[in-house]
Amino acid sequence: MKAVVLAGGFATRLRPLSCTRPKLLFPIGNKPLLDWTLEKLAKNNVKKVILAVNYMADTLIQHYGKSKHEMKLAYSIEEKPLGTGGAIKNAEKLINDQKPFLVINGDIFTNFDYTKLLKKHKKNDAIATIALYHVEDPSRYGTVKLTEKNRVTQFIEKPTCGEAPSNLVNAGMYILDPQIFDYIPNGQPVSIERETFPKLADEKKIYGHNFEDLWIDIGTPRDYLRVNQLLLDTKIKKSQIGKNSIVENGVEIKDPTIIDEEVTVGKKSKIGPHVAIGKHVIIRKKTHIENSVIFPQTTISDSTSIKGTIIGEGVIVGSHVKIKEDCIIGDHTIIQDNVTLTQGVTVCPFRKVSESVLTPKCLM
Ligand code: GDD
Ligand code: MG
Repeated sequence: MKAVVLAGGFATRLRPLSCTRPKLLFPIGNKPLLDWTLEKLAKNNVKKVILAVNYMADTLIQHYGKSKHEMKLAYSIEEKPLGTGGAIKNAEKLINDQKPFLVINGDIFTNFDYTKLLKKHKKNDAIATIALYHVEDPSRYGTVKLTEKNRVTQFIEKPTCGEAPSNLVNAGMYILDPQIFDYIPNGQPVSIERETFPKLADEKKIYGHNFEDLWIDIGTPRDYLRVNQLLLDTKIKKSQIGKNSIVENGVEIKDPTIIDEEVTVGKKSKIGPHVAIGKHVIIRKKTHIENSVIFPQTTISDSTSIKGTIIGEGVIVGSHVKIKEDCIIGDHTIIQDNVTLTQGVTVCPFRKVSESVLTPKCLM
């Protein structure tokens, strides 16, 4: 089977975090999100992956090259974002197959078995078979109405209050028949969710497949931390400390925590639970970090406390700093000594913060 990974969108809520890597390269347990996805695709017998890219395309190409896990990798590049449908149409020549293919949203973390979707697809006379997941609040997603035989009769993207036909949402994983290309105009932005799926629903050509495994769309900082937490709970469990890392006397590391290579953790610091620390990070003494992700090459001085926060690359955090939950600290930021950042503060890359911020806001 061939697969298209939609990897091109602009990560709005998480965008301030990094100016050097797209969301798909954000680390989950110190490994990029896309690595987890590619590993799963290989296990699901996918032989060729087409990455549909625009935003930071060069970074992705440089990072992955031409193959991974014995799968061929190809890049379908959009000069301008063509939307989720336009990106699939743009990849038509690279797919070049008469067989159904898999399409996935790149920002999904899941343990769903894609082969189940293909089996379902083959049972119906469908152009699209989409994976569906039950959520409490469907407003952030595409929602569907189904017949008893799981045919989608209605597809509403981002329903407004009271408009959602059910709590079953599009999980961003599809098997598409090559006939789909006749439904998407060439060379222009098209949303598969707003334009193509509703048309297929009218023509009785789209089916759903419910599943209940782990599934998270990494759309917000909280989603990202939840994925980090889940991964550490399920795959790491016991804390891991990478090669050449130094953990000084009196440090307490609470499971599960993952520390990458060449990291230093200073005396009497408390790290964990649910902390992921990237390469070459330096944490000085008596600092407390929990439920957070720290990107590589960041330095955190002594007696600082960080909770429920994502810290980008090459950041410098001073001493006696307090960073509360739901903060995003962008790449190469400097947070000076004694600063307190209250819950929900976002600091954009390269900012210098010398005074406390006591109301949630974004520092541009
Ligand atoms: N190549 C390319 N070009 N990729 C794109 C483009 C584009 O113009 N626009 C978005 N993408 C990619 C994003 O990178 C992401 O991986 C995926 O398509 C979905 O885009 P998001 O921006 O994350 O959409 P969403 O999360 O609001 O909604 C989508 O996902 C939900 C499930 O997670 C929709 O498919 C919803 O219907 C769905 O419920
Ligand atoms: Mg998304």
